[in-house]
Amino acid sequence: MQLTGKTVVVGISGGIAAYKAAQLVSDLHKTGAEVHVIMTKNACEFITPLTFETLSGNRVSVDTFDRNFEYHVEHVSLAKKADVFLVAPATANVLAKIAAGIADDMLTTTILAARCPKIVAPAMNTGMYDNPINQRNLETLRSYGVQVVEPDSGLLACGDSGRGRLPETSVLLESVYRALAKQDLCGLRVLVTAGPTREALDPVRFISNHSTGKMGYQLAAAAVRRGAQVTLVSGPVSLAPPQGAQLVPVSSAAEMFQAVSSRASQQDLIIKCAAVADYTPATTAPEKMKKSEGALSVQLERTQDILGWLGAHRTPGQLLCGFSMETRDLLENSAAKLERKKVDMIVANNLRDAGAGFGTDTNLVTILTKAGAEPLPLMGKDEVANQLLDRLLAMRQR
Ligand code: C5P
Repeated sequence: MQLTGKTVVVGISGGIAAYKAAQLVSDLHKTGAEVHVIMTKNACEFITPLTFETLSGNRVSVDTFDRNFEYHVEHVSLAKKADVFLVAPATANVLAKIAAGIADDMLTTTILAARCPKIVAPAMNTGMYDNPINQRNLETLRSYGVQVVEPDSGLLACGDSGRGRLPETSVLLESVYRALAKQDLCGLRVLVTAGPTREALDPVRFISNHSTGKMGYQLAAAAVRRGAQVTLVSGPVSLAPPQGAQLVPVSSAAEMFQAVSSRASQQDLIIKCAAVADYTPATTAPEKMKKSEGALSVQLERTQDILGWLGAHRTPGQLLCGFSMETRDLLENSAAKLERKKVDMIVANNLRDAGAGFGTDTNLVTILTKAGAEPLPLMGKDEVANQLLDRLLAMRQR
């Protein structure tokens, strides 16, 4: 995900998990965001500011009264610049200070001055985490709109086992993406299908296609970040499920039809991004088919067109979006699908275009609606996902 133009302030307090913040800052820097790190004095006992200066490309702030500062009143400048403020790890001590409005160092002073979305990721010994005083502080922070990322459970550095581990970097990154996303899909139920289907010939072999699920997974992730309640019906892929989406794994086109049709009436928006098989073997051999001399013929029959079924069984106000991948006559074929399947939008991409299609992180699509065709420039699949959601939301509001 690209965060170019955004400023992320990362506060690091003095727990052993401070070392994990190095990966977090490195990953945030790679998104193109401007990353500023503020450390407490105790955090500097665990890991040095130099590590974060190298990874963020910016000077690390520690002491409010550092006279070698770049800005006039640094805590105010950083607070004003921040689009999101993430404290990870957040110790019990720092959480207590933030909850009480105490501002006695650079981190606590800056977060008190900041008006942007704030996230804290508590990491500490289980006894400290479960202590009612700490829980009350977390409740206080939540009541002020601060997002609390729940710690993981497991073996802690102190030897205890329980809640209190800093979550994976991917979970922290996702909380930042969500805090920066517009919350314009709140209350909407969105179903996305993704990936290929597998049509079994026998217990060993299947017919499938090259879909990797990247576009559909980006759509599901973007919809979650924008506040939607998302169901992702996915064929077999090797991608991590988007955080916050309900994953329904399926294999064949028939299973996908079952998963989608049984949930369709509860959805406000359905995006059929999956590359569903159009044909399936008429019979599946119960045992592995043994080879013999000569050619093998397999009888195939048509699968159910899931999108076509959705178009014919649409609930009032529901929006339907399909995808179309072609190798020639892209726009003619895609416009025909818009009509035939009775859907609101077809997203067309040509397998032959550089940067488009299976497995790439980018896509080059043309959006077809009743209003006409709108080609989008080449962009990341995450950005394509947001552009599609923008247009679908606009159609819903019309
Ligand atoms: O007609 P065509 O297969 O090219 O249309 C592609 C669109 O239809 C995609 O959105 C795909 O998910 C959907 N589709 C479907 N069921 C099928 C085949 C395709 O829902 N059996």
